[in-house]
Amino acid sequence: MTEDPPPPSATTRSYEEKYEAFNSREAGDARVAALGSDLPNGYTTLEQASRICEALELGPEDLLLDLGAGRGWPGSLIAERSGCRLLSADLPLTALRPAQEGLARSVGARASVICADGRRLPLGDGECDAVCHADVLC
Ligand SMILES: C[S@@+](CC[C@H](N)C(=O)[O-])C[C@H]1O[C@@H](n2cnc3c(N)ncnc32)[C@H](O)[C@@H]1O
Repeated sequence: MTEDPPPPSATTRSYEEKYEAFNSREAGDARVAALGSDLPNGYTTLEQASRICEALELGPEDLLLDLGAGRGWPGSLIAERSGCRLLSADLPLTALRPAQEGLARSVGARASVICADGRRLPLGDGECDAVCHADVLC
């Protein structure tokens, strides 16, 4: 994670509060029942994330950017299944902290988390092989 996150916008502040509530055990149990995984903070189900994974056909040499990753969805699933490297980007630290912990467990050293605005990512042309974003344009 970068050391100096940008000042939070109104949208980011609203997500900070939502993620505080989403990190409870009860909320996690409800997500598992409804979506098939504890990680989503949107409407993208385990089945839909699996289809994205199959369509991307990534391998261990590839780098996937998960833009607006929240707590790591759906990039974590794709990286676990495909073996690809993963860069998860979002802004609220209340999402990025659990994302970092969860990805360290599930994906290990192949995963990185970055606090960055998707409109100004510190990436050069061609650095990523694929991009996914679930429920971000909202
Ligand atoms: C509905 S959540 C979905 C999170 C995750 N993809 C999931 O499916 O669980 C939308 C996410 O997009 C992020 N987001 C919105 N605008 C963004 C931007 N300009 N740069 C980075 N992240 C952004 C929000 O902070 C929020 O975490």
